[in-house]
Amino acid sequence: MKVKKYVFDIFEHDEDFKFIMKRLLEASMEESFNSIVITEAGKGYPIVYVNAAFCELTGYGPQEVMGKSPSILQGPKTDEKVIKQLNANIAAGRLFHGKAINYRRDGSEFMMEWKIVPIHNDKDQITHYLAIQRDVSDQSP
Ligand SMILES: Cc1cc2nc3c(=O)[nH]c(=O)nc-3n(C[C@H](O)[C@H](O)[C@H](O)COP(=O)(O)O)c2cc1C
Repeated sequence: MKVKKYVFDIFEHDEDFKFIMKRLLEASMEESFNSIVITEAGKGYPIVYVNAAFCELTGYGPQEVMGKSPSILQGPKTDEKVIKQLNANIAAGRLFHGKAINYRRDGSEFMMEWKIVPIHNDKDQITHYLAIQRDVSDQSP
């Protein structure tokens, strides 16, 4: 069997391509072991989606975080240099990958590693950001 480079290629000839893509994306996000957050690109980066793994990781329910900024996860020990780098990267439309101390709903801290990917529309404007996050507290630095 020919190895497919893009997952889309597997289904591109199916007449239900769009529907299947939606289902695939939905299942990947809902069942992911990693935490996933989608924000709007506007001021404060309001959250529009979190998956179940985000709720498990942070202790927040989905309705509690809708419209809020992911900066609710930050606190006194969060490294400002990392956040500056994040701002610089996403303002320039680049991927961000970093680690910083974050805080759960109950105030307990953990080491968050996360990536942020800018999502462009067909006019090449950034409309959303997608973040993939995980707890790396148990990993050596
Ligand atoms: C999609 C997305 C996910 C984010 N996830 C986190 C996160 O998990 N932890 C964190 O400390 N900051 C996260 N941030 C960063 C904060 O939301 C915020 O952008 C950052 O603190 C800079 O904003 P400020 O200049 O107002 O402090 C995320 C930002 C975006 C756009």
